[in-house]
Amino acid sequence: MSFFSLFITLVLISVVHSGTIRDINNDSSCETHISKLDTCKAIISFSGDCYSSTVDISKTEYAKCLTNSFFWSYPLNNMTLIIGTQFTQQQQPYTILIDNEQVMSTVSHVYRIINDKETEVTTQEKSLKQHSDTNYQIILKFQGPTKLGRYGVNINYESYQRL
Ligand SMILES: *[C@@H]1O[C@H](CO)[C@@H](O)[C@H](O)[C@H]1NC(C)=O
Ligand SMILES: *[C@@H]1O[C@H](CO)[C@@H](O)[C@H](O)[C@H]1NC(C)=O
Repeated sequence: MSFFSLFITLVLISVVHSGTIRDINNDSSCETHISKLDTCKAIISFSGDCYSSTVDISKTEYAKCLTNSFFWSYPLNNMTLIIGTQFTQQQQPYTILIDNEQVMSTVSHVYRIINDKETEVTTQEKSLKQHSDTNYQIILKFQGPTKLGRYGVNINYESYQRL
């Protein structure tokens, strides 16, 4: 990430309204913050002790989008994203393509969670492709570093209907 984009991000963090959404983290001291940057774009950050946090995007306004862009600010430990898209609301099967080069710059492992079962889906490919589950969601766990090394990582994906 260039100095310039970091600067812009910090400016944006200081001006955007920061909303705390209800999250389902086990550790009660772990709070999730989602700061809106644009209709389909937000910064995800955490406060407190977060070792394995969960952020449910599928119940937010960001699930109305076809292309989403999340900036995981100060990535540490594990973050599980419950992804929903426009197709979730329409109950249509879909596929997402994640910009994997961005993810792999900071994340060491990616796991897909279906029925509470984790399967590693880490790849070095340019994009990570995943199909929606029977709830029209895609639950992915991103394993970040255990020591802070980067300001953030972009988790960008687009979705398209699977016919
Ligand atoms: C939270 O984690 C602790 C320790 O890992 C576990 O004993 C407890 O059952 C968990 N609570 C919930 C609500 O998952
Ligand atoms: C993150 O998840 C991985 C895979 O389940 C696990 O091996 C690791 O211990 C977890 N790390 C933390 C900090 O909970």
